[in-house]
Amino acid sequence: MEINDNTIVMDPNEILRTRCPEVELPLSDEDREHLEQMLEYVRNTHDEQYCSDHNCRASVGIAAPQIGLLKKMLAISIEDGEDLVEFALVNPKIVSNSTRLCYLENGESCLSVAPDAEGIVPRYYRIKVRAYNLITDRMEEIKLKGYPSIVMQHEIDHLYGKLYYDHINKNDPWQPIPDAVII
Ligand code: NI
Repeated sequence: MEINDNTIVMDPNEILRTRCPEVELPLSDEDREHLEQMLEYVRNTHDEQYCSDHNCRASVGIAAPQIGLLKKMLAISIEDGEDLVEFALVNPKIVSNSTRLCYLENGESCLSVAPDAEGIVPRYYRIKVRAYNLITDRMEEIKLKGYPSIVMQHEIDHLYGKLYYDHINKNDPWQPIPDAVII
């Protein structure tokens, strides 16, 4: 199955509001294939030409429910200059977080939400995540701050049936958050 704009599960859909069960480790061949495909997809969407050829949009992360799979799996690929920051995680869990918050100045967006919901999405500035990482083939404790931390929290939310706009202040979507790091 190819992942593209026609196959991404769109809000509103119950799949996106369902808490995913844990995935059994070691990964089955099928789960491994899906997770590899998710990572490849996100990485490919950094290329404009790929997106126009394959009917998709630029992205930095995807979670299994977005391709219709109720499994705790996510893939992230972020371009950082010449480098790629990438994760292909199974059963990720936030084990600690800063009290300090951060948010993206222009708000967040999601492959499954159209049009974009406007407003500040508060996130923890720093997180520590425990997960099996398919890229390194081991259990890891991953420390993130700032932008990658925001992306990770957005994708982990998907595994619990949450969408980014759930966090937006409904009375005043752009109300600044004191002491938060603006990214
Ligand atoms: Ni999303």
